[in-house]
Parts: sequence; C-alpha cells; structure tokens
Amino acid sequence: MIAAAAFFFLISLAQAQAQVLNPLASDPRAAQAGGAIFRAQCATCHGADAKGIDNIEAPDLTLIWARQTTTDASIFKTIKEGIAGSIMPPHQNPDPEIWMTVSYLKSIAISGTNETVVGNAVRGRNMFVGNCSRCHRVDGVGGSLGPDLSSITGRRSLASLVNSLREPSSAIGRRFKPVSLTTATNERVQGTIKSEDAFSVQLMDSEQVLRAFNKIELIQFTREIDSLMPVFSEAALTETDVNDILSYLQSRRGRRPSI
Ligand code: HEC
Ligand code: HEC
Repeated sequence: MIAAAAFFFLISLAQAQAQVLNPLASDPRAAQAGGAIFRAQCATCHGADAKGIDNIEAPDLTLIWARQTTTDASIFKTIKEGIAGSIMPPHQNPDPEIWMTVSYLKSIAISGTNETVVGNAVRGRNMFVGNCSRCHRVDGVGGSLGPDLSSITGRRSLASLVNSLREPSSAIGRRFKPVSLTTATNERVQGTIKSEDAFSVQLMDSEQVLRAFNKIELIQFTREIDSLMPVFSEAALTETDVNDILSYLQSRRGRRPSI
C-alpha cells in the first residue's frame, strides 16, 4: 500500500510540471505499467515485441535509443503528438502514462553491441573514405544515398554489419527501398523511395538529387530487389579491410559531429 501511495505521489508530481526529463525514470514499476499500456495501445502496429511490423512500416522501437538525437523528451513528444503524414497516431493518455511508456521503451532498448572489433581504425577511415563515403555520411561528412552510419555500430551487431557489406540486398532498410522508373521523356532514373502516395513518388536518385514524379506520367515504375549498395565481396574487401572499417565506425560512435 505504502509503495502504491508513493507511486501515485510520483505520478501527481509528474503531472505538475511539463518535463524534459522522465519524472518516472528511476521507478521500475513505471516500465512495467508502461508495458501494459504498450500491449494495449501500440503492439498492434509495433508488434508485441516492439520490433516493428514491416508491411505497415511501423519501426522497431528497440533501436531508437541508439540515435544520438533520441531523448526521453523527444520520444514523449512523438507518442503524444504522433507523426504527421503517417499512421502513427497522437495519444490522449495523461502525461504520466506516456512517461511510463517511455520508461518501458527504454527498458527494452537494444543499446547496440558491446563487442569490440579488432581492427585498425586509422586504416579503416581511409578505406571508408575510398569505398563508402560517396553514399554514406559519418559525422556529417559524406553522401546520402545510403543511411548515416555515424552510430550504426550502436544499433546493429557486428555480424549483421558484415552481412550488410557482403549481401546488401538481404535486408534493405525502410526509406532505402530501390526503384527504377522511366519518365515520359524516356529518362531512366534509379533511386531510393523517400515517400510515396497513390499519385506521386519522391525519391533520391542515384546522383543523390531528391526528385518527385507523378505516377500517371511514368512509362515504367519498378520496385527493385537489388539494393543500390554494391556487393563488397572478399575480393573487393578482405576480412581485415572490413574489420578496419568497422573499427573506424565503432571509434566514431557517440562522437559529436566534427566540423
Ligand atoms: C496505427 C499504427 C500505430 C500505432 C497504434 C502506434 N504507432 Fe508508433 N508508429 C507507427 C508508424 C507507422 C511509425 C513510423 C512513422 C514514420 O516515421 O513515418 C511510428 C513511429 C513511432 C515512433 C518513432 C520511432 C522513431 O524512429 O523515432 C515511436 C517512438 C512510436 N511510434 C511509439 C509508439 C507508441 C509508444 C505507441 C503506443 C502508445 C504507438 N507508437 C502506437 C504506427 C503506430
Ligand atoms: C553506391 C552507394 C553505396 C556505397 C558505395 C556503399 N553503400 Fe552502404 N548502403 C547504400 C544504400 C542505398 C543502403 C541502404 C539499402 C540497403 O540497406 O542495402 C546501404 C546500406 C548500408 C548498411 C546498412 C545500414 C543500416 O541502416 O542498416 C551498411 C552497414 C552499409 N551500407 C555500409 C557500407 C560500407 C561500410 C560501405 C563501404 C565499404 C558502403 N556501405 C558503400 C549505398 C551504398
């Protein structure tokens, strides 16, 4: 009883102030209560294990904390306000319930891997610049046809990263789905879909220019199976090369973007 009373005292405290920090962060019962809210209100879209459901593009919520920009407050805001232009709805729950859900999401976070790659990060940096930078950003530098890799070693296991290099098409991330199309003027364009509705499609083309097309004006529009990322076989990058690159990426993890 006393514990419950203390808990509700905490809740009213939480209600009293607009928070930047999760007022329930240190209370393990908050995560538990948040789990119940999650199962009732979120699991239909994000999956019972919060690992996301691909065909409705509801993301894996165990990975969100690895992004440097994610904070308790930013997740609180996303849950409360929803995401405009997507099916992620706003939630009218009282603030303390939303904080409980934040606590729950934190409790199931996969905060990346603790494995350390044995490699030469300095050599890896050069290999990265030579082979990867034109499509990938690290610390704000590089291309953007592929995802920003600044904190990738915090989100993915090393084995799965090696797999991304050897077989990039085996798991293509949301927002990087490859398409090809032919315009009315017979221009052939390849790119990754950034957004799409019934009438139009926006993509980043292989020259890394954002472009929009009206579907009705296209002669051809194909969802491709092969990633725009090239396959890096062992002939292209040896195991040592890969370890050096991963070691470089790991060394960047958690750094502030350099100028
Ligand atoms: C009707 C389906 C639906 C429901 C219900 C739903 N979500 Fe979502 N949620 C989505 C989709 C789809 C996205 C991705 C939107 C986008 O980025 O375009 C999303 C995005 C999010 C994000 C942002 C993830 C990121 O990468 O930053 C968070 C956090 C989130 N949802 C939490 C929740 C929580 C917590 C609940 C329950 C209280 C919930 N969602 C309920 C569909 C849903
Ligand atoms: C021609 C552009 C291009 C080059 C060069 C390229 N990539 Fe990619 N990469 C992509 C695209 C596009 C994706 C997203 C689609 C996919 O996952 O296959 C991607 C995805 C990835 C992913 C998965 C990221 C995630 O969020 O899960 C990793 C890891 C990766 N690349 C690493 C590398 C490394 C390391 C190199 C250099 C050895 C490299 N890439 C070179 C375009 C490229």
